[in-house]
Formats: sequence, C-alpha cells, structure tokens
Amino acid sequence: MLPSYSISTSRFRYILNSLLPCSIDSTIMSIYSFFFFIFYFFLIFIGTVKSDPDPLQDYCVAQTQGSQTFFVNGAPCINPADASPSHFTTSALSKPGNTASNPLGFNVTLTNIRNLPGMNTLGLTMARVDIAGNGLVPPHTHPRASEVTILVKGSLLVGFVDTSNRLFTQQLREGDAFVFPKGLIHFLYNLDSKASALAISGLTSQNPGAQLASAATFTTKPSIPDDILKKAFQINGQDVSRIRKNLGG
Ligand SMILES: *[C@@H]1O[C@H](CO)[C@@H](O)[C@H](O)[C@H]1NC(C)=O
Repeated sequence: MLPSYSISTSRFRYILNSLLPCSIDSTIMSIYSFFFFIFYFFLIFIGTVKSDPDPLQDYCVAQTQGSQTFFVNGAPCINPADASPSHFTTSALSKPGNTASNPLGFNVTLTNIRNLPGMNTLGLTMARVDIAGNGLVPPHTHPRASEVTILVKGSLLVGFVDTSNRLFTQQLREGDAFVFPKGLIHFLYNLDSKASALAISGLTSQNPGAQLASAATFTTKPSIPDDILKKAFQINGQDVSRIRKNLGG
C-alpha cells in the first residue's frame, strides 16, 4: 500500500502543478493526494462489485400488466397507494419443481417481478433448487449476482471456479450454506443416488441471469461454427455433433 501511495502523491503533485500557475503548499498537496487516493480506491475496488442500483422510494411494486410502452431498467411501479401485502408475498417456492423434465435431474424455481411484484428494484431474488438423486445443476454463471445457498435437505457437492482456474468445492450437510461469488462458474451435485435434495438460494440482483457453460457453447442459436468449437475444445467434427445432439441442440 505505502509505495503505491507515494507514487500517486508525486504523480498527482506533478499533474496539479502543471495545471495550476503556482506550486501548492505541501500540506494541501497531501490532502489532495489523500482524497484522490480514496476516490481511486472506491472507483477501482468498490465500483466493480456494485449490486443493483438503490431504489429512490420505499418500494416500487412492479407494474407487469398490459403491454409495455416505455422501457426502464427494471419495471415501472404501480401507484404506491394501490400497494397491498399480497404484493410482498409469494407461494412460488412452496412446491417442488419437476426434476424429471430434463435429463440432468434438477429444477430451479425463482421469484421474479411477476410472482413477487414487491421485490422490484430491491436487488434480490430467491431460488428454490430441487435436485433428484445424482442430479446436477450443471456448471453455470450468474452475470449480475452473487449467490448464497443453504442446503435444507439431502447432501450436495457444490463448487465454483475462480478466474485463475482454481476449483473450490465443499460437501454440504443439511443446514450448511455456501456462497458463489458473482459471475463465477459454479455447480451443485446431489451425492445421494436415491434421495432428492432441496436447497434455497438468495441472489443479489432482481435479474441475476443464468448462463449454462455447456449450452452457451454447444446449443446457441445460431450455432457457433464447428471449427471454433473443434479448436477450443480440441475435438473433431463428430465430437461437436455428438455433444450438440446430446445437449438437445
Ligand atoms: C421445472 O419444473 C416446472 C414445473 O414444475 C416445469 O414447467 C419446468 O419446465 C421445469 N424446468 C426445467 C429446467 O426442467
């Protein structure tokens, strides 16, 4: 910290001296440098991990009826006088999702501005994750949210990969929680071959987004050219076709 601070001091002194007609008293310079340092610290370190923008009102119950005539970041609010407790509650997570409707044996049910309009602009989402015996939530990322997951029932192997390609995994028992940092590839695997698992997640955006690594490479519309996938994964054309077909692409 110290060396980079003194480099900044002399750099800003040089910049300020060249901008101003006379040289400045060194006490004032240190104050200037200090504030520049704080400003850049926030810009560089805090700015990159911002969550959704803060609301400008207590709540903004989402207006989801009718066709949209103007477009904003999120959904517009209904008149606050029309807000009711029912806008702030949902039963969307009370029932298990159907894990048999896909070959991986998982189902994620999310809150959103339609089933929970009171969460509009609040910067969060809840998810119910049902995973059948040996089922898998395959490697995926949420571009706009960190996620914290608590295992309610069963046993899960969870993990994420950081940008230096290091894998962090943990075997969760009932009641254990795990956090997946924003934007990093992660997965959840049910270690039990028979019993299903239930986890509940909180995500730090009202629209976290989800991108499955396998789908984002092999089943895009239109397709990523075979030559690119062959080279990227060091496989041949038959491998590309087979993987694409297996993934329903
Ligand atoms: C999750 O379950 C619902 C019904 O409970 C079903 O409509 C949906 O297709 C399932 N999603 C996946 C990814 O299998």
